[in-house]
Amino acid sequence: MAISIKTAQDIAEMRTACRLAGEVLDYIAPFVKPGVTTAELDRICHDYMVNVQGCIPAPLDYAPSGYTPYPKSICASINHQVCHGIPNDRALKKGDIVNLDITTIKDGWHGDTSRTFCVGEISILARRLVSITHECMWLGIAQVRPGVHLGAIGAAIQKHAESAGFSVVREFCGHGIGRNFHEEPQVLHYGKASDGPLLAPGMVFTIEPMINAGKAAISELPDGWTIVTKDHSLSAQWEHTIRVTETGVEVMTISAGTPPCPSHIRINP
Ligand code: MF3
Ligand code: CO
Ligand code: CO
Repeated sequence: MAISIKTAQDIAEMRTACRLAGEVLDYIAPFVKPGVTTAELDRICHDYMVNVQGCIPAPLDYAPSGYTPYPKSICASINHQVCHGIPNDRALKKGDIVNLDITTIKDGWHGDTSRTFCVGEISILARRLVSITHECMWLGIAQVRPGVHLGAIGAAIQKHAESAGFSVVREFCGHGIGRNFHEEPQVLHYGKASDGPLLAPGMVFTIEPMINAGKAAISELPDGWTIVTKDHSLSAQWEHTIRVTETGVEVMTISAGTPPCPSHIRINP
């Protein structure tokens, strides 16, 4: 299967799903405090998506081949958890970092975005990891324009992460998105700038680097979903859904509360 090219009408519809996903993160942000459990955050997000936004939470019962159906409506990955953390009755505590990953379905279209939140005061290392990872995502987005190889995104992310002494998770990547949660292409967060297909207007995909403070290796927990760093080092992630425009990039999952692109990073208009 080739990379699908979305029409102007497709894009107009996807914009809604994407903005709503961002707005779930805006809505949940004030609840991310010491003492709250990730199961409570899941329920609040679920109810907001279903009852207020009229969306379907894409993760709920999502079952790619080889996986058991995902049991919750969001992913919540704390500290050394890399991604796909299943919300549970564990309470957040001061000093944790937690990634909340939201995927909505609205009118058949998906929007996928995540942020890493800091719970109260966090360590200098954790703060640096979260902010370097945020820069990695935006540096990846800054590569996007027609005629550039897909590999330029991963190359920029890897360079920034490794210059900071961090490592890039290899086993999970960004992905095309649209009527399907995950479609072509796979968007690696490492590699060579000259690798991969050329970007063209109408392509829509996510950029979602997972960056570890220690080594890159990961393991999967017995729940069949949760991914952790093998060395138990901290891991952070940020994600946006983007579209390749005629001249550059549109970040589709921006909402009122989206943490802005760092001012030193220039996005192709
Ligand atoms: N939202 C994740 C992504 O960015 C995928 C989560 S799959 C789930 O691709 F089933 F765990 F929700
Ligand atoms: Co994604
Ligand atoms: Co996601």
